[in-house]
Amino acid sequence: MRAPAFTLTAGPVAASPRVLAALGSQIEYDYDPIFLERFRATQRKVAQIFRTEGDVVLMQGEAVLGLEAAALGIVTPATTCLNLVSGVYSKWFGERLRRLGATVVEHEVPFNSAVDPADVEALLVAHPQVSVVAVVHCETPSGTLNPIREIGPLARAHGAMVICDVVSSLGGSDVRVDEWGLDFCVSGPQKCLASTPGLSLVAVSDRAWEAMHANPAAPRRSYLSLLDWQTAWEQEGRFPYTPSVTDVLGLEAACDEVLEEGLEAVIARHENAARAARAGLRAGGVEPWAASEEVAASCVTSITVPDGIDEAELRMLVRNRYGVVISGAQGELVGKVVRIGHMGIASTSLYPLVGVSAVVQALGDLGAAVDVGAASATTLAALAERASA
Ligand SMILES: Cc1ncc(COP(=O)(O)O)c(C=O)c1O
Repeated sequence: MRAPAFTLTAGPVAASPRVLAALGSQIEYDYDPIFLERFRATQRKVAQIFRTEGDVVLMQGEAVLGLEAAALGIVTPATTCLNLVSGVYSKWFGERLRRLGATVVEHEVPFNSAVDPADVEALLVAHPQVSVVAVVHCETPSGTLNPIREIGPLARAHGAMVICDVVSSLGGSDVRVDEWGLDFCVSGPQKCLASTPGLSLVAVSDRAWEAMHANPAAPRRSYLSLLDWQTAWEQEGRFPYTPSVTDVLGLEAACDEVLEEGLEAVIARHENAARAARAGLRAGGVEPWAASEEVAASCVTSITVPDGIDEAELRMLVRNRYGVVISGAQGELVGKVVRIGHMGIASTSLYPLVGVSAVVQALGDLGAAVDVGAASATTLAALAERASA
């Protein structure tokens, strides 16, 4: 089978030449002063992207590790959590919380929409015992974004801590850890930062550290322990386990690229790519899954698969006939959506046009009533408008 020419997925995504070069560089000894400084510098750069003055822990393992570590750090059978469910990942997070024995107040909205902050406020008033609010910023399978800008401060005003999954949104949407009062914010390098799927990037607030110290059940001497990172690395300059040198070097190069272009410019690039893709799809007679422009994500566009079309057949056609790999669905959305990613390189140049035209043409090949000319022309016009702005 031929490798596809274009990777326009919801992550992992293709890396830039600079990131690839960093990933291919010599493996440094982790305690060599050069690597120690690079590790610290990478932490600072990730903190800039999180917009936090607080601590950032670089855990070894994909982002699920960081999410689980955050939950284990503060959630016990005595905890009442408010879990905001707007998609597959938040639903799964609720299962993790229940497995820890927590009482979970679950607020679920349709998976093509976002949580309304007014409902969060009402729930916090109705359940004053809630001490943890869990929210996913971008529900990657749905291509939808929750208003964490409002949810974070609301939770804080009610004395609850926030565990926020920004795995796919960091670098593609505005994320302001300190300003919005997000206590744990977890991301990964394999999405909008466009490096490897090997690390959990965890921003931890002072309140979060205090809460973990106050929890005798918070893991210690464990791969899942954030406290070990604080004690060993931050206080003693010792790694709790050997970090993957390669992943760290790749992440640092990815952060350098983002920071040199400018975080705001990078976010705007992702937003413009997604906006152009949505406009093109609609012009071609294909519906984005997100219920409105307001809730649509910038890192990925989920597309409603028309009735009578098989989602797996569509993806394979897009890949094998047009050389574009896109993402399928997860959880409850399987069979209902396919996804074009706009992460990293895929948000630059004409990549959104490649994705839209390949998907719309493939839908036409399978018998759907679509207009690939209108889809392509509209996407291109939207991209050109941005380029000349
Ligand atoms: C919102 C969100 N959370 C967490 C993850 C990590 O999950 P996984 O192990 O499925 O890659 C992802 C990955 O796509 C994600 O999109």
